Amino acid sequence: SFLEVTRRDIPKVPALRGKTVVSMFYEDSTRTRLSFETAAKRLSADTMTFTAGSSAVRKGESLLDTVRTVEAMGIDAIVVRHRSAGVPHRMAGWTQASVVNAGDGWHEHPTQALLDVFTLRLHRGADLSGLSVAIVGDVKHSRVARSNVKALTALGADVTLVGPPTLMPPDLTGWPVRVSHDLDDVLGTFDVYYVLRIQRERISEALFPTLREYANRYGLTEERLARLGADVLIMHPGPTNRGVEIAANVADDPRSVITEQVANGVAVRMAVLYRLLAGDGRRPPEMLSELEGARA
Ligand code: CP
Repeated sequence: SFLEVTRRDIPKVPALRGKTVVSMFYEDSTRTRLSFETAAKRLSADTMTFTAGSSAVRKGESLLDTVRTVEAMGIDAIVVRHRSAGVPHRMAGWTQASVVNAGDGWHEHPTQALLDVFTLRLHRGADLSGLSVAIVGDVKHSRVARSNVKALTALGADVTLVGPPTLMPPDLTGWPVRVSHDLDDVLGTFDVYYVLRIQRERISEALFPTLREYANRYGLTEERLARLGADVLIMHPGPTNRGVEIAANVADDPRSVITEQVANGVAVRMAVLYRLLAGDGRRPPEMLSELEGARA
C-alpha cells in the first residue's frame, strides 16, 4: 500500500500529521537518512535532523543528554544510526519515543533487510522458501549481512556466505548458512547475488592483499555476470564501490535491482513509521479508505 502512495502524483497521506520524527545520525549515510526523512514527510509527519558533526556532541555532550534534550522538544520517534552496536537499544531505555535502528556498528540494519526482502518478494513472489542467496564480500563487518541472514532464513531462503576467511565472522556457530571461500567455485548456483561493500572505515588491519586482488577473486565482474542466467537478481545495499566489489556495468545491468532497493526503502520505512506511530497501531479508517481508493 505504501509503495502505491509513493507512486502517486502527490505522494503524501495525512497518516502521521502532528507526529514528529527526528533522525539522529552519528555515522555517514545517504540512503537511509534520506529514505527515513522522505518516508516521514510522505506520511505528513514533522521531521528534525540531527547531525553529530555539527551538534553539541562536538562540545562533549553525552548521548544520554542529547536524547533528553531532543525529547524535551516533543518528539514521537528517533531514527538512530551509530558506529557502536547496541546504541538504539540503549536509547530506547531512555526515552518514551519510539526508537528505530538505522544501523548500529557491525550489529544490525533491520530496515535494510526489510526492504531487501520486500524487493525480493516483488520479483519472486511472497514465498521465498528455497530461494538460494549468495551474500558476497565483507560479511565480517556487515550489519546488512547479519540482518539479512536473519530475515532471509526466517522466510525459508538458503543463504551462502561467500568471501575470504579474513572477511568472515570469527565464529559462525548458530548461523543457519553455508560458507564458500571461492566465488568462481559456486558461481552459477544461486538465484540472488547480494554483494557487500568492503567496509574500509571499519578495517584497521590488512585482511586482503590489495583491492585489485580482492576484485579479481571476489568482485562481481562483467565476466562473472556473463556466466549467470538471465533471471538472477543482483543486489547491493549501497553505497557501491564500482570496480571493487561490483563492476560499473554489472551495477547498471538489467538484472541489478540496486536502484529499486532504494525506491522500495521509502515505502518500507513508511510502513515502519506508520506501524509505530499511527494511533493505536491499527490502520485508521481514513487511511484504509484512501489506500483502498488508490488501489481501485
Ligand atoms: N544501505 C545503507 O545503509 O546506505 P547508507 O549508508 O547510505 O545509509
